Amino acid sequence: MRILIAKSYEDMSAKAARIVAGQLYLKPDSVLGLATGSTPLGMYHELIRVHKEVGLDFAEAITFNLDEYLGLPPSNSQSYHYYMNHNFFKHINIRPGNIFIPAGMPGDVEAECCFYDRQIKEKGGINLQVLGIGVNGHIGFNEPDIKFEATTHKVKLDDETINANARFFKTIEEVPRFAISMGIKTIMHAKRVLLLASGESKGVVIYKALYEGITPTIPASILQLHQDVTVLVDEAAGSLLRRMQDE
Ligand code: GLP
Repeated sequence: MRILIAKSYEDMSAKAARIVAGQLYLKPDSVLGLATGSTPLGMYHELIRVHKEVGLDFAEAITFNLDEYLGLPPSNSQSYHYYMNHNFFKHINIRPGNIFIPAGMPGDVEAECCFYDRQIKEKGGINLQVLGIGVNGHIGFNEPDIKFEATTHKVKLDDETINANARFFKTIEEVPRFAISMGIKTIMHAKRVLLLASGESKGVVIYKALYEGITPTIPASILQLHQDVTVLVDEAAGSLLRRMQDE
């Protein structure tokens, strides 16, 4: 596991974009696993800049998003479909047919989850998975006490997650209670993982995930068992990690 502490959010975002761009230069038809939330926004901005100014090519890239709220159509501005299109996809030259995000309003949730895992397998598996981390240690929407062996599945969101994500909605009642998320097993199958964390609120949880026991209570802790993880945090999220590095 490589742990990199960037100087600032901007520095973290630039370094993250460089890792994703490097993956695409080496393998233009890479399968990228993508995350939402506020953390990767700067990385997406930087990737758009590199696309526009340096010609980073997404024509062959394939993307799979980690998760989507259940009950929100793609037109809802809080859906992850909307987020990805608005913040990234519409600014680059990715083919619409190469974009995969779990459906927010599937007729059959089980069938949608199976379809999603099958698609990932058919495309050859994820080459680089970008992850954020929730304040409760979740990755994707794999909430504490999740089964590590889960593949893509329906999840009930934790109160902590609902509270944390309420900032994006008008009222807390509007935050969906369920989502579809890639499971831990799906994430662990990715060849490389890039875990991002930004801000003081993530300091303790990122420390626990990396330096304490591997436990379903902190779903991100399973990444200690992954063979190729880069953890990239800004100074604010990395204060406890820095202390470990200094010791
Ligand atoms: C959300 C997403 C996660 C994301 C996390 C952190 O609920 N499902 O994929 O990593 O919470 O979000 P943020 O980056 O806004 O702190």
